[in-house]
Amino acid sequence: MIVAIDGPAATGKSTSAKLVAQKLGFTYMDTGAMYRCITLSVLRNHISLADEEALQLLIQEMDIHFERTDDNLVVRLNKEDVSTLIRKPEVTSHVSAVSALPQVRNHMVAIQRKIAKNQDCVIEGRDIGTIVFPKADVKFFLVADDIIRARRRQLDLKAIGEERTIDELVEEICRRDRFDSERSHSPLKKADDAVEVDTSQLTIDEQVDFMVNRVMNH
Ligand code: DC
Repeated sequence: MIVAIDGPAATGKSTSAKLVAQKLGFTYMDTGAMYRCITLSVLRNHISLADEEALQLLIQEMDIHFERTDDNLVVRLNKEDVSTLIRKPEVTSHVSAVSALPQVRNHMVAIQRKIAKNQDCVIEGRDIGTIVFPKADVKFFLVADDIIRARRRQLDLKAIGEERTIDELVEEICRRDRFDSERSHSPLKKADDAVEVDTSQLTIDEQVDFMVNRVMNH
């Protein structure tokens, strides 16, 4: 079974997807982390986004692995634990441009489909219910108020030692959403058959219970 969870930045996708997967005993896939890994590699190797050949080489040499711990997800890029590094502002500010490249998307989508081929998965991203798994069994599209999203992001960043103001974060989150929604290749978009969940006033438990019930009653 495939459960797709899409939506703009900081709407609670990761937190709820992780818990929904845990409750259902499904594999959890964070596709944003995959795009963040390639962005980190692009930055480290000073690769120009116009250099298709260099990008191709980089993509081919990349090995992304997820490891579940009791309460977290460790992201490994060529064996290195990059879980914190990929959440740093420098990666965040470049990830939309990198993930808009068809060359990058085609590769990532192939990996995502391969991972989900023989197992039940909860997959979060931007294009899961529309492009990657248009026939997903259950689709959710999470939304939330801008200020609430910025507050959540501020807490996430504080936990990794980054201090940001709410105004900066509202601006950054909205700019990234605009870019992700307006790109020509698989833009962020609600699938017609996705259930919209506004998480602004919901606790984590409430949103997870709602989603798990919806999947169980499918
Ligand atoms: O969910 P996130 O904030 O970690 O995602 C980082 C970026 O990756 C997001 O701004 C757009 C891109 N992304 C994408 O284009 N397609 C996905 N399926 C997941 C993420």
